[in-house]
Amino acid sequence: MEELVEIVVDGRSLAVSKSTIVLQALRDHGIDIPALCYYPSLEAYGSCGLCMVEIWSTVIWKPRHACLLEVEDGLQIKTATPRLQRLRAWIAQILLHGRPFHNSEIEGLLLKLVQDETADGQVLSGSTTEGCILCGLCIRMCRKIGKDRLTYLGRGKNLRIGLVPGAGNKASCGNCCACRNICPMGFISPDAEHAFKARLYKE
Ligand code: SF4
Ligand code: SF4
Ligand code: FES
Repeated sequence: MEELVEIVVDGRSLAVSKSTIVLQALRDHGIDIPALCYYPSLEAYGSCGLCMVEIWSTVIWKPRHACLLEVEDGLQIKTATPRLQRLRAWIAQILLHGRPFHNSEIEGLLLKLVQDETADGQVLSGSTTEGCILCGLCIRMCRKIGKDRLTYLGRGKNLRIGLVPGAGNKASCGNCCACRNICPMGFISPDAEHAFKARLYKE
């Protein structure tokens, strides 16, 4: 039988499965916080940074990634403090460096996070990732299906997603499109095989 523990979220007690991570527990109870790089069946990465919550730790509230945190009995969580809203706005500002995105709905959500919190709603631009937020979901999905063809390439401003270097990798990809289907930003284009390859496999 499933073992339950009790956590307290924004002052409300919730019974959740002992083996759940906090983000999933919140979702299971209809508490929605921004999160772009989480997918239930894939290993969590904590790369988008949006899913911050505060947890009570002995004497202070500490910010933590909800996708990297396991529930434990008595855990106290806040999901919508002014500090969290400022943090999410700051993170959204960084993610928006990658504009324009093909997924305009997510772009709109990120812009709203920024504009709700900053007086001028200013968003910088000038990324080399061109529509990709480097969340790594495509890499994890490709690994999950046993292909393991994708990786991060480059460093710093040149960090990008591409094929694992080596002869034969491009040929053996197979174009299953699992990476394209999971990409939250619409970066991996569905319109043509050529566009899909050209954009994903840019070297
Ligand atoms: S299309 Fe290629 S790179 Fe994408 S998930 Fe499938 S095997 Fe991996
Ligand atoms: S291509 Fe899509 S899934 Fe892959 S890292 Fe970029 S935004 Fe994430
Ligand atoms: S969903 Fe937790 S860091 Fe992206």
